[in-house]
Amino acid sequence: MASFLSDRSTTLSSSGVGARGCWIASKSRPATNFRYQLHSSAWKATALSPTKRIQREIPGSYGLPLLGSISDRFNYFYFQGTEEFFRSRAEKYQSTVFRVNMPPGPPFFPDPRVIVLLDQQSFPALFDVSKVSKRDVFTGTYKPSADFNGGYRILSYLDADEPRHAQIKAFCFDMLKSRAKSIVPGMDFAACRCFDRWEKELRAKQAPELVSSIEEICLAFLTRALMDHDATGASGLSTETIKKWLAPQIAPVALLDAIPPPIMELLHVFPLPFAVVKKDYEAIVSYFSAHSTALLDLAATHGVPRDEALHNLIFMVCFNTFGGLIRLLPEVVQRVHESGVAKELSNEVAAAVRDAGGRLTARSIDGMPLLHSVVYECLRFQPPVPFQYARARQDMVIESHKEAFRVKKGEMLCGFQPFATRDGVVFDRPNEFLPRRFMGDDGAKLLKYVLWSNGPQTENPSVDNKHCAGKDFIVLVTRLFLAEFFLRYESFQLDGQSIKSLSRRSPST
Ligand code: HEM
Repeated sequence: MASFLSDRSTTLSSSGVGARGCWIASKSRPATNFRYQLHSSAWKATALSPTKRIQREIPGSYGLPLLGSISDRFNYFYFQGTEEFFRSRAEKYQSTVFRVNMPPGPPFFPDPRVIVLLDQQSFPALFDVSKVSKRDVFTGTYKPSADFNGGYRILSYLDADEPRHAQIKAFCFDMLKSRAKSIVPGMDFAACRCFDRWEKELRAKQAPELVSSIEEICLAFLTRALMDHDATGASGLSTETIKKWLAPQIAPVALLDAIPPPIMELLHVFPLPFAVVKKDYEAIVSYFSAHSTALLDLAATHGVPRDEALHNLIFMVCFNTFGGLIRLLPEVVQRVHESGVAKELSNEVAAAVRDAGGRLTARSIDGMPLLHSVVYECLRFQPPVPFQYARARQDMVIESHKEAFRVKKGEMLCGFQPFATRDGVVFDRPNEFLPRRFMGDDGAKLLKYVLWSNGPQTENPSVDNKHCAGKDFIVLVTRLFLAEFFLRYESFQLDGQSIKSLSRRSPST
């Protein structure tokens, strides 16, 4: 921040070198704007209406054992792709609720059968912990071995009615609260260091790579803000080590660029053993053991044993947060770039910071309504975690906009969120990225339909629900990242996923 105030307005540009792919983020963001909206009467209801009569069984089929799951998986990954996979079935069944098999599949992941939920009426069934269980469904129809987590069932896999859930979640809330003062300086440190490096590379006619830079920012920020230590420095931890540990846990449901389809198919039916990343996890454990004494002390006050707290902390920082942010932030940069609001954002950020005495603080961020709206629109447009799963605790009824369906106890529900958050019943022009969508009173009314955190944006996580514990933290961090960027720059150009040019703000504007 300080550097912004003393710098002259300059434009730096690269020679336009092409982007380098990144395994975890490359598949996470679409090359083009997907058109998630359905065009048939499946979506033609006009309001979120209350109870309806049950008129038919849930449409769709699981097909023959084994063959059905193979066919659905191939369509999902290779022949249709995610969007068309869901859209074509919703059209065929004239329903936003239907049965289908989801990856991974047999023989080593035995039960791929789910009931898909695609609209704003049916999706919230996933949040009602009185009716659905979230036990061991964090990653979907499979759960990676507990060996990846020191032998523990980590908070994200615990159901809200398991006693440990409340203890560990309370620790998580307390951790974020206790570190609140370090969030702004942590982002300032990590972002400004990265911006300095980008400028140096641009002066040398190189094109800084967006995704890997953001990964570096995320790791430096998180470890600095939460543990007063920068993991990206010497004797630290690399982003690659964390991604290597993450990879086998998500491989059963992922399509990774670097891996040829036949091998990828093996990973969709056979779980990779922990042994392949044991050394990487040991490095992560060793790093966190050395730098998290204060946080583990805090966990002890909530009755969470130190070793269990350590592995939970690693999961919160490296899986929940790092894994989420490295999908979200590159997406945010791309969307801001494409929507052409950079200059306005830059003016808004500069004015709010000036009004707040020249410093970027959590409070000065409050005076940036466009920035707030842009962040919510990113979270609506491309939710970083697109799937949520839950199992019916009891026989229950789920309503779509058009119909009501009976679901049996034990059946698995699977929400594909980008369809729900692009539901034309509640959002105008749902497939367009509208930076101002959430501004003003009317915009605020739409926030209840933003569901990225496993619950409506207008509701709060608690020890009794499964709403993301980092909901407010992530919104703040994303705003801070953008604010840091636009305090320094008034515009920028991307070339694929590389930075082509950066135009500094003049200090007088
Ligand atoms: C961009 C970043 C993030 C995204 C997209 C995200 C998204 C989510 C989602 C979708 C869930 C629900 C998963 C499910 O059960 O189906 C969840 C749960 C959770 N998240 Fe986040 N999250 C992010 C960051 C964070 C942060 C910063 C923390 C805390 C340090 C955190 C902690 C948790 C925890 C503990 C749960 C489980 C909640 C419970 O068991 O009650 N997440 N998150």
